[in-house]
Amino acid sequence: MMRLGSKVALITGASSGIGKATAIELAKEGARVALAARGPELLHEVQMEIQKIGSEAIVYPMNVSNKDDWAGFVSKVIENWQKIDILINNAGIMPLSFIRNLRIDEWEEMIDVNLKGVLFGTAAVLPYMRSQGYGHIVNISSTAGRWLFDGGAVYCATKFAVNAFSEGFRQEITSTENIRMTLIEPGITATNLSNTIKDPDIKASSGNNTPIAPLQPSDIAAAVVYALTQPPHVNVNEILVMPTQQKI
Ligand SMILES: NC(=O)c1ccc[n+]([C@@H]2O[C@H](COP(=O)([O-])OP(=O)(O)OC[C@H]3O[C@@H](n4cnc5c(N)ncnc54)[C@H](OP(=O)(O)O)[C@@H]3O)[C@@H](O)[C@H]2O)c1
Repeated sequence: MMRLGSKVALITGASSGIGKATAIELAKEGARVALAARGPELLHEVQMEIQKIGSEAIVYPMNVSNKDDWAGFVSKVIENWQKIDILINNAGIMPLSFIRNLRIDEWEEMIDVNLKGVLFGTAAVLPYMRSQGYGHIVNISSTAGRWLFDGGAVYCATKFAVNAFSEGFRQEITSTENIRMTLIEPGITATNLSNTIKDPDIKASSGNNTPIAPLQPSDIAAAVVYALTQPPHVNVNEILVMPTQQKI
């Protein structure tokens, strides 16, 4: 049975990793999906995969830290499908660095993408969800939103902030407006995320980590689908999913 048939879902960071796997799982459940990321080529590949499954997908190249891009993205979705059921705020970057190296441009970019991207996305869809009288927002945070680790001070700060905002949204909006909020906190997942690390000290120290069997993007997509397919009176507030071998 298609558990998300007729739903319209916007997914950021849909060209790779967790976002791509989630877009494909939602499409398999019957959702029509709007795919966003900066680079169009990989988005078009995901779109073709979804069309092969028999569902619909549109592509919108954008930067989640740009408010005008969000306005354009949401307008395009409304023009195509006239509603927004689901927003998955997934796009993120993780240029880990030690504080002492003062890589402040990377700090700023992480705040722009990981935090402002979530805020701007929420702001862009909220008026539509309020006027519809329903909606569901899923924010992809991280174990880094719960525990600090070496080199992760600013990345963790962005994810702690996403956790706080998600809980604030749930308390203020979900409880009165029928717009659900789910926070997903993945542990180590096999994606391209660590490609954004440029600090040579982090690169040098990463060889000391004991290898563990990571989660696959599809494991997180399954958690997202679980949250989205609960009955309307159920709000799945939070899902923490970690590899069996990961400590923190
Ligand atoms: N992998 C993990 O271990 C792990 C663990 C916990 C949480 N997470 C979280 O999971 C989310 C997805 O990451 P991933 O692991 O799947 O990494 P990924 O494979 O590197 O995917 C990141 C996606 O975000 C997009 N993106 C990056 N910057 C963007 C921007 N400014 N505007 C729009 N799109 C942007 C990328 O496409 P473009 O570069 O083309 O824009 C790509 O589609 C992130 O929020 C990450 O923090 C990951």
